[in-house]
Amino acid sequence: KEFTVAILGATGLVGQRIIKQLEQSTIPVKKVKFLASKRSAGKKLKFNDQDVEVEETTPNSFSGVDIVLSSAGGAVSKKFLPEAVKRGSVCIDNTSAFRMNPEVPLIVPEVNGEEIKHHHGIIANPNCLTIQMVMALKPMMDSFGLKRVIVSTYQAASGAGHAALEELFKEAKDYMAGKDIRKEAKILPTSSDKKHYPLAFNLLPQIDVFEDDGYSHEEWKMIHETKKILLNDMNASDIKVTATCVRVPVEISHGESVYFELGNKNVTVADLEKVLKDFPGVQVQNDFRKQEYPQPLNAVGSNDTFVGRIRPDLETPGAFNMWVVADNLLKGAAGNTVQIAEKLVANNWF
Ligand code: A2P
Repeated sequence: KEFTVAILGATGLVGQRIIKQLEQSTIPVKKVKFLASKRSAGKKLKFNDQDVEVEETTPNSFSGVDIVLSSAGGAVSKKFLPEAVKRGSVCIDNTSAFRMNPEVPLIVPEVNGEEIKHHHGIIANPNCLTIQMVMALKPMMDSFGLKRVIVSTYQAASGAGHAALEELFKEAKDYMAGKDIRKEAKILPTSSDKKHYPLAFNLLPQIDVFEDDGYSHEEWKMIHETKKILLNDMNASDIKVTATCVRVPVEISHGESVYFELGNKNVTVADLEKVLKDFPGVQVQNDFRKQEYPQPLNAVGSNDTFVGRIRPDLETPGAFNMWVVADNLLKGAAGNTVQIAEKLVANNWF
């Protein structure tokens, strides 16, 4: 069988990469549909060297579509994906719109790919940060037990979309020209909050809006998505998770400093390296003597998750620090989405 695949948000940063990943995927594609807002209707994009015209998204755009790969923001997903499901499509959604719905599997194929088969038409792609963290934690959890995770993030501007990236570039130029950039920002830290601050030569400890408890919504996502993926329950208490999320002036690829406590207190760094190396999609770069460690610039364009700086907490047996980097637009988004679609197709879990 060949499949008709719609890409919702085809003109966006993630949408563009979904197109590239789909071209290289194992999915037999009969036809693609590129969907975006009215603004982009009529624009032409390539799929395997063929011109495809972008269409304005309407409920009927999904008639005859087998698979929807969606990345146009939460509001757009909420509006259109139920329409697509009504018309028989299976949707893989990159936004946070359905992630915490108990009916919707939240998938990282290497970690919990079997859960895909329980879908009811929508499968969610986790937040980019959560994906790269669970890629590193899963093999260690399976071998040694996992009790606690404390993570601080170093998040690239591209995670906030195309306009945020343009804003960073302009601020950087203006800063170098000696201008005061503190009044320029209009988007970051998030377009959905009232105040805006520059990211160039700065750090912003706010991603998304704040919850009443003082955690940002991004931090909330890290905590609950990690539990849903690793334990199948967003409120599970078997693993404790806490997070601090920070935007840094990097273009692509997120970094995470992860402190974790294992159940087994006799584990060595060599034990951890071994299980990480054996896990598909993880690359270990952990030789401090050679100054070898993951870096955002080197991760760009790869669908792998890079792990390094693995070292024991010198005072707490079974506890370690590590540094995890992945391309937020690929493994964090487009790559993971297309991997989910490949697994869906390969197992015929429609
Ligand atoms: P458009 O280019 O027409 O605005 P990014 O995250 O890089 O900002 O991309 C967001 C994506 O979501 C773009 O492809 C954008 O299309 C799409 N999008 C935004 N609003 C809508 C909408 N109302 N309906 C469909 N697609 C939308």
